[in-house]
Amino acid sequence: MIAFLDLNRLNSPYIDIFQRRLETFVSREYFVLGQAVTRFEEEWAHYTQSRFAAGTGSGFDALYLIFEAYKSLGKLKEGDEVIVPANTYVATILPVIKSRLRPVLAEPGPDLNLDASRLERLITPKTKVILPVHLYGRSAHLSEINKIAEAYGLLVVDDAAQAHGALHHRKKVGGLTDATAWSFYPTKNLGALGDGGAVTSNDQELIARIKVLRNYGQTEKYNSAYRGINSRLDTLQAVFLSEKLKDLDKLNKKRMHIARKYREHIRNEAIEKLPCSPEGEHVYHQFVVLSERRDALREYLQRKGIQTLVHYPVPPHKQGGLRGLVKGTFPVSERLSRKILSLPVDPYLSEQETDYIIETINAF
Ligand SMILES: Cc1ncc(COP(=O)(O)O)c(C=O)c1O
Repeated sequence: MIAFLDLNRLNSPYIDIFQRRLETFVSREYFVLGQAVTRFEEEWAHYTQSRFAAGTGSGFDALYLIFEAYKSLGKLKEGDEVIVPANTYVATILPVIKSRLRPVLAEPGPDLNLDASRLERLITPKTKVILPVHLYGRSAHLSEINKIAEAYGLLVVDDAAQAHGALHHRKKVGGLTDATAWSFYPTKNLGALGDGGAVTSNDQELIARIKVLRNYGQTEKYNSAYRGINSRLDTLQAVFLSEKLKDLDKLNKKRMHIARKYREHIRNEAIEKLPCSPEGEHVYHQFVVLSERRDALREYLQRKGIQTLVHYPVPPHKQGGLRGLVKGTFPVSERLSRKILSLPVDPYLSEQETDYIIETINAF
């Protein structure tokens, strides 16, 4: 069986170094925050070509803390509207709701990212944020979105949970908007051995406020100046992430190599490939194809020993957790959810496994 993503294969090269780091950690490190978190924050800001980073407990909390920090800085208030893709993972939208802001859903374009040409008609006097998602590892249309945001005086907060290392017009995603949220969930292109997240930004005041809010709102020990939460990047995860970051570009290149082979060699009328990314470099967190016969294709591949997944089978607005919280109908996203299929793009897939996947798909 070709697994969709073999986490054991991804993490086992680091076991020796993790063990050595763990020994030093137990004897010397702070267990919460401390130098290892600061070090990873500096490395992550450097990698993403942004000025500052703050580690958080998860990608969800990265988004939530961005909103709470803007509220605390007087740039957002409850009831403000946030434009967000209708075809994203539910974890993009739930932090908006938790911050008592109002999600306004927008349909995707042909590359499945937010369609910038449909944004202006969604802007109302209450709109304060556009929240593009770099879905599947392809940079969203940030240049157009930033222009619209500037014209209307809106903030742009991007969800880069799937886009570690992605480029937009030769620049790294991470410092191109007001604030960028990251997840280090284990399956991400840079994954921890548990939960983890971060915010990157060029805005020093925002990052400073996030660092206070993630730690009970404390400006000094035992003095909560703001109503904060506990959502710090776990220190041991920061130690592991610093080690894994060294290989991120190499592993992204492997994903791109597999994707190039899929793009060049998958030829089957029942399967549609997504358009290329002229604006940037896609890091293929997922390689997604479209098919009217998606379920049959998926069952066929399973029978042939190839595991696939669907990201995501039910659009957020159709899920119980969002009932009554979003207005409108989203036929494009609903249709897509019945057609999308994610093929394995595990960086450790062998050439033979990749070829077998291509041959099997072509014979469908
Ligand atoms: C697009 C997107 N946004 C947000 C999240 C939330 O990240 P986390 O699971 O770290 O909370 C994820 C991943 O899980 C995601 O894929």
